[in-house]
This record gives sequence, structure tokens and C-alpha cells, in this order.
Amino acid sequence: EKGGYDHFMIKEIYEQPQAITDSLRGRLDPIELTLRLSGLEKIKDKLLQARRIIIVACGTSWHAGLLAEYWIEELARVNVEVEYASEFRYRNPIITPEDVIIAISQSGETADTLVALEKAKAQGATIFGIVNVVGSSIARITDAGIYTHAGHEIGVASTKAFITQLTVLLSFALKLAEYRNTISPELQKQLFKEMNDLPSKVESILTESKDSIKQIAEKYKNAGSFLYLGRGYNFPIALEGALKLKEISYIHAEGYPAAEMKHGPIALVDENLPVVFIATKDRVHEKIISNMQEIKARRGKLIAVVSQNDQLALGLADDSITIPETHELISPILAVIPLQLLSYYVGTGRGIDVDKPRNLAKSVTVE
Ligand code: M6R
Repeated sequence: EKGGYDHFMIKEIYEQPQAITDSLRGRLDPIELTLRLSGLEKIKDKLLQARRIIIVACGTSWHAGLLAEYWIEELARVNVEVEYASEFRYRNPIITPEDVIIAISQSGETADTLVALEKAKAQGATIFGIVNVVGSSIARITDAGIYTHAGHEIGVASTKAFITQLTVLLSFALKLAEYRNTISPELQKQLFKEMNDLPSKVESILTESKDSIKQIAEKYKNAGSFLYLGRGYNFPIALEGALKLKEISYIHAEGYPAAEMKHGPIALVDENLPVVFIATKDRVHEKIISNMQEIKARRGKLIAVVSQNDQLALGLADDSITIPETHELISPILAVIPLQLLSYYVGTGRGIDVDKPRNLAKSVTVE
């Protein structure tokens, strides 16, 4: 059932172009460049009245939520808060009937996320689900929602589920921006077009960078620790890259906003520390280039995910992986692909059963 692949994880990584297509099908019209999200229409009035949106999730789904905060605030100009479901449910959060709570969950069964939603519902908030498993507990208790349509994910590491969460969350942000009149028709069409191009761009990363990522993994697979740095839209991707590596290679990894490294983690840098930069061309590109120079000056090993033809970044990095150019709002969706592959090849290179890493369960139904 692995369809010729060695593991479900790599099979699911390669299924991502299809998963994105499935998650946009019937929603994004590629000819008219319009988007329809019936789940969102159901709560349109509530959303237009909402003073803020609170996103609750765990793990990789929480990383998708963090990126959604950047997208929704940028495009729709609504205040967003992103909460670990476990923290949210046990403190005494201020929830009002004007709040819209979005839960993001692949399984739809994560105990903390489910209880966080129940709590918000009891206080009168509108609750919305972005879920992969159809008919799961979270899907059933929410007022409305959008399925991600990634298909059945078997590997413990979330890959295609994450990519479809991002696809749906960006769609959500764009639709909300349309409702609120905070986006120009030109930008909206441009982003729809770029979203429609995502499957082929993901496909090209999968075919073109596989061999070089394998070599990078081989070179660094015995490192004791990794640092992942990104800024802006790529900060949540740095967190996700680090989580993926920890889970399936058992190497300690930390994700950080690149500028925060000066406030502590830079003390870790020496010639033995691989530092993965997500440094695609965006509004903070110059800033991240100077962060790369700071690591290089301290002899850290630079692995960089960069935009094609970015000679400056390519010249600085010890090892690099290029991804196709796209709009800066979309590029984090591409940037995570090389990081998934890197963790897969480091994990398998260390002889780990990446589909069933120790101590982890696919769905965390106990708190
Ligand atoms: O099913 P959920 O999306 O609610 O699961 C949340 C986390 O348990 C999950 O994303 C976990 O962090 C994955 N193992 C990450 O690869």
C-alpha cells in the first residue's frame, strides 16, 4: 500500500501536489479566478461582526495557525490570536459571543483542541473547524467548517495534512478579505493564480531538489543539534522544520525568529552547528541576509532555502536548496517542502522508523 515508496511519510510528501489540488477543487475557479467557501458563507455575518479571531491547535496544526495569523491580519485586517489548545483550555480566557474560534486539526480528535472548542462554545462563541478527517469529533461539534481534503494520512509526521491546512487557511484569509473589502481585486486575482500554480511548483521542488537534499542530509545527519531561523511568513515554517526534524530524526532542533537569535541562541553557534535559514525573497530579505552573515562570522554551517537566482543568499550558504519564485504570501507553502524532505532523509539516514517514531501517536486523544 506504500505504492513503491519505502515509507508512508515519503509517499505522503510526494502526494502533496495532488492534495493541494484536491483541497482547492470546487473552491478555486482557475479560469474565472474566484473562490467559493461554503463553510465560510455560513458564518459570514458572525465573521463580519467579530472583533477578533482566536485560533486553537496543537503541534504542526498550531504552526499552520501561526501562519494564518500573519495572513489574516495582513489581508483581512482582523485581529487574530493563536493559542496552544492545552494552554487555552486551562487558563481562564476571555471569550465573548462576538469571538470566532477556529480549531485546526488533522485528526479532528485531538483532546486538548476538542475541549478548548467545547469551552468556547459554552461561552457563546462561534466555533469553526479546519479538519482533515471527515465526521471526526471536532467536525461534528463545530458550527461550520472547511475540510482540508488531504486524504488519509498515515505517517505520524504531518506533511500533506499541513500543506492542505495552509491552502485552506490562505483561502480563508482571502475570502474574509473579500467580505471586508480589504483587498484589491488585482492582488486577489494574482494570489488566486499563484495558488492555482502551487501543485506544479511543489512538484518541481520534489523532483529537482531531492538529490541535493539527500546529500545535505547525509552530510549533517550526525549533528547534535540544529537551529532553524526564519522571519515574517517564514517564521512559522522555521518552527515546523524544527519540529519535523525532532520527531523523526531524534536530533534536537529549535526554531526561532531569525532576529531573536541575538537574544540568546547565538551563544550556541560554532562550527558544529547547522543553521537552517528560510530566506526566500520577501520584504525582510535584506534583514535575513544580514542574520546569515552573523552566523557565518561565527563559523556556523549555513543551510539555506532560497528563491531561484538569489545569488547573494546562494553565495553565503554552505548548502542551499532553491524553490521557485512566487508571491511572498505564498512562498512559505513552498518553503516547507525541502524541510520535510530534509527531515525524512536525516531520519532514514539514521535508521529510524520515520512512520512510527518512538513515543509518538498519530492522534493524541489523551491530554
Ligand atoms: O490531529 P491534529 O492536527 O490535531 O494533531 C496535532 C498534533 O498532534 C500534530 O500536528 C503533531 O504535532 C504531528 N505529529 C506533527 O507532525
